[in-house]
Amino acid sequence: MPNFVYLNNKYVNFKDAKIHIEDRGFQFSDSVYEVIKVLNNKIIDLDFHIRRLKYSTKELNFNIRINKNLLTEIFISIVKKNKLSNGIIYLQITRGLQSREHAYKKNLKPNIIIYTAKKKFNLPNKNYKGYKAITYPDIRWGRPDIKTTSLLANILAATEASKKGAYETIFFKGKKITEAAHSNVWIIKNHKIITHPANREILKGVTRTVLINVIKTQGLKLIEKEFSLNELFKSDEVFITSSGSLVTPITQVDKTKINKGKIGSITKALALTFYKSIT
Ligand SMILES: Cc1ncc(COP(=O)(O)O)c(C=O)c1O
Repeated sequence: MPNFVYLNNKYVNFKDAKIHIEDRGFQFSDSVYEVIKVLNNKIIDLDFHIRRLKYSTKELNFNIRINKNLLTEIFISIVKKNKLSNGIIYLQITRGLQSREHAYKKNLKPNIIIYTAKKKFNLPNKNYKGYKAITYPDIRWGRPDIKTTSLLANILAATEASKKGAYETIFFKGKKITEAAHSNVWIIKNHKIITHPANREILKGVTRTVLINVIKTQGLKLIEKEFSLNELFKSDEVFITSSGSLVTPITQVDKTKINKGKIGSITKALALTFYKSIT
């Protein structure tokens, strides 16, 4: 449990961080969020997260101007106050408080919460782990490119994965793969690295953006294109990326072993270069 929570201009104790029952985030998931990794006391890829937060709040017409300097100050301060070395910063902004009604009023005052959680990351060292994933239909709303807390479909998918002893759920829409319940999905076939294009069908992951730069600097072949369930099962390697999972190998999808159930060499090399580039 973290000691402190930033709640609307104040640092309060975790147990005292309370939000009104008519907050629209609570009633309607009318709310956006970011998860930012902290590795060895360092806040990682902050600019990308701020940029995406601006995008989310703008797309939903929240009554807020994201102030990068102020947020940076708060992040540094909460990491220090909570003595966080490795873990995540969680930020959530709701549209604000209003008597219950679907249509929102214009000048609501957003509620902002920021706190931290410790986390052990899957680092590409001798303990590096590959995981099982399951497939599941992508039944999310039509704008998963906005990072909202409307995550019911992701929650159902993640619970299904958990029941089956899997780490992640890979979403399919018709025959094509979009992304996963809390990460972006990549396949490798004949040394080509393939991932879904960053359009309105997926969340443009910060880890994805940074990894694309790493791939390019390594001179590897990257293709941003749609791929099918069949291509997923027949891949040489599969991995997922997110702020919480970094670059994590997927060694089994449903009942199919990928790369004979072993971590692929390209995935491991990428994970290592990625980790070095951000720390
Ligand atoms: C649905 C979904 N896709 C992709 C990602 C990866 O995004 P990022 O790399 O910014 O953490 C996440 C992260 O939570 C996610 O929930």
